[in-house]
Amino acid sequence: MTSSSATLFERFLAPVFNVLIDREALLRYRNSKNWQRESDRFRQPGLDYPAYYQQNFHGIRGGYLTVDAAVTYDPVTQYLLPPNEEWVRKGLIEQIRCQPRRILDLGCGTGSTTLLLKRAFPFAEVIGVDLSPYMLVVAADKAERAQLDIQFRQAKAEQTGFPDASFDLVTASLLFHELPPQVSCAVLQESFRLLKPGGEVLILDGNQSTLRQTDWLMQIFEEPYIKDYAAGSVEAWMQTAGFGDVATIDVWWVNQVTRGVKPLPYQKVEFEAFARTGKTQWAMG
Ligand SMILES: C[S@@+](CC[C@H](N)C(=O)[O-])C[C@H]1O[C@@H](n2cnc3c(N)ncnc32)[C@H](O)[C@@H]1O
Repeated sequence: MTSSSATLFERFLAPVFNVLIDREALLRYRNSKNWQRESDRFRQPGLDYPAYYQQNFHGIRGGYLTVDAAVTYDPVTQYLLPPNEEWVRKGLIEQIRCQPRRILDLGCGTGSTTLLLKRAFPFAEVIGVDLSPYMLVVAADKAERAQLDIQFRQAKAEQTGFPDASFDLVTASLLFHELPPQVSCAVLQESFRLLKPGGEVLILDGNQSTLRQTDWLMQIFEEPYIKDYAAGSVEAWMQTAGFGDVATIDVWWVNQVTRGVKPLPYQKVEFEAFARTGKTQWAMG
């Protein structure tokens, strides 16, 4: 496609990636599967795709609800996380402080971070959820090839359907820049609900302050919500959702990891009368 309606990706980046990527290998993989049948394994009856999700992402028409998005995601992403995709993803793993027994990876895509989580915590039950059944096919394929026992399920990150307080760790990598900020806030509220007290949430994504200073970076990949994401603050959204000990670290300038903890039920409460005298009291939350 070279018409004026072509996306920026199609005009400038696709030719570059065409050189970098082994198209034959991609086609072989694409043709090796019955995508309809394999994606049907993940489709949840009655699941409605939200309107914000049914858009072009990264210049791919039809976004994540296409086989092509799933097949090209890993080969392209390896060039988009400088200086090295695995180092950036490990930036999230390194911030985990707990020894989780149950882990949920939201918007897991093709499962690259989900696999690292399972490798880091081999005895934990690890579940990845995503809206795209095609991304889940690739994720399940990768886990099987790596002989890692990971469950993949189709679900909305903001409404997963799992019970309250059923996870020790909830993660999301490269999800928030693809969501309208109010949906990111809903995902954090859902994470808070899903975590046990003392559980951790970790969000790896584009560095919001770097993105605000590099307009060109935001334009290239045609992410519909990246400007709103960059203008916001994952830290503030996390605090609003109820998380404590919220902190962000830079990951190689272009990315960031924000971590928060669901407070334990025993928390420091400033009662009005005590507040007047400057004293504090401990109470059951
Ligand atoms: C940029 S990819 C990131 C995938 C993966 N986490 C990674 O680090 O490579 C974003 C993923 O989020 C998924 N996604 C977007 N909105 C979602 C939502 N509301 N609920 C679940 N998954 C969602 C997309 O289908 C896509 O697979």
